[in-house]
Amino acid sequence: MNENFNKSLENIRMSPIVTISEEIRKQAPVFKEKTGQDFILFQRGEIDFPTPEYIRNAAKKALDDGFTKYPKSGGEAVLKDAILGKLERFNKATGLTRENIVTTYGGQEALELSFKLFEGKKGAGFAPTWSVILENFIPYSDIDFTEVPLNKDFSINFDAIEKVAKDISFFYLNTPQNPTGKLFTKEEVIQLVEICRKNDVFLISDEAYEKVTFGGKEHFSPTSLEYDNIISTFTFSKSYSMTGWRLGYLVTRNERIPKLLTMGNYTQTAGVTTFMQYAGKEALDNIEAEEKAVSTMVEEFEKRRNLLYKGFQSIDGIELTKPDGAFYLFPNFSNFIPNSVTGSERNTYIYKKLLDIGVAAVYGSCFGHHFVDNVRFSFSTTPIPVIEDGIERMQKLFNSL
Ligand SMILES: Cc1ncc(COP(=O)(O)O)c(C=O)c1O
Repeated sequence: MNENFNKSLENIRMSPIVTISEEIRKQAPVFKEKTGQDFILFQRGEIDFPTPEYIRNAAKKALDDGFTKYPKSGGEAVLKDAILGKLERFNKATGLTRENIVTTYGGQEALELSFKLFEGKKGAGFAPTWSVILENFIPYSDIDFTEVPLNKDFSINFDAIEKVAKDISFFYLNTPQNPTGKLFTKEEVIQLVEICRKNDVFLISDEAYEKVTFGGKEHFSPTSLEYDNIISTFTFSKSYSMTGWRLGYLVTRNERIPKLLTMGNYTQTAGVTTFMQYAGKEALDNIEAEEKAVSTMVEEFEKRRNLLYKGFQSIDGIELTKPDGAFYLFPNFSNFIPNSVTGSERNTYIYKKLLDIGVAAVYGSCFGHHFVDNVRFSFSTTPIPVIEDGIERMQKLFNSL
């Protein structure tokens, strides 16, 4: 039998975050039996809020109204118009039309399609980088990817970008960023786009967490800039707690890209589930309900961020930059890892110590080669009392190391 399948599919690796979650599933009952305590789950980007009622009702209504037929390839006009409204209101991106948008199965498909455009080419992005980019999209598109490390405080080393920019087809930006929670400033984004423009490089801008920002700070979208070679990818998952709906979209001023993706990756009748697109329209267009739903969630996330940040600050030796967005903290634990511990043992050293106290988090090497002494903590499914419990356990652990 000829099983010589597409090599790039065989190169894709299982997400280490999924592997970690499976490990926790096995360990949690044993831990409970031994200590009487539950595991604290800081490892996943799932959200513990339901999808807002006004969006659920819109999906039910769309079903009852008969929006159950083949979708329009690339996206229904009603959803695209709602997206255009949101781009103008929220992202300050004007001069766009329906032809600049392709709707997708979540942010992940928007990214996968974007990376596919550069199959076999060279690209770069910041380290740390969201693990799915490294484990999945890059091998799937056979891309030669350079990690450009952020500085220790997660600010940008522009000289390093200038150096690689001469040699790449695209740069991948994610703001607010997973795993650091870094919200890149308007000035930083503009400077990055200028480097791309100067070197004729595309920018893939992953804006999945655009609505999750703290302390009155706001996301700045490069899509508002007049550079055609930016592809911005968005999702409903994080803004509206719609992770299971698989609804997202990409936006670009480059005229060829939406045509290529609509024709090349979809047949004339394939696309995002029709009735969900109507619910997506409501999610964006019902401004009053939208603002209430988003602010309820973000206010809770901000409380959790503040608490977890304060907790880490209370432990001598942990180095941490306060995140302004997304729902992650990415502290550095170098001071707790003996110099003699190296290689793969070093990568999981703190992760394993945390498992011993029933705390699940994601070790830094899942996000590339550069921040291996860091660990990512997600606070998207951990209510305040659970965080308090986690901090107490970690205070005891690290004060004893
Ligand atoms: C950085 C980043 N980009 C994009 C996504 C895509 O999310 P989804 O496919 O749920 O829309 C995620 C999800 O965790 C993410 O963390």
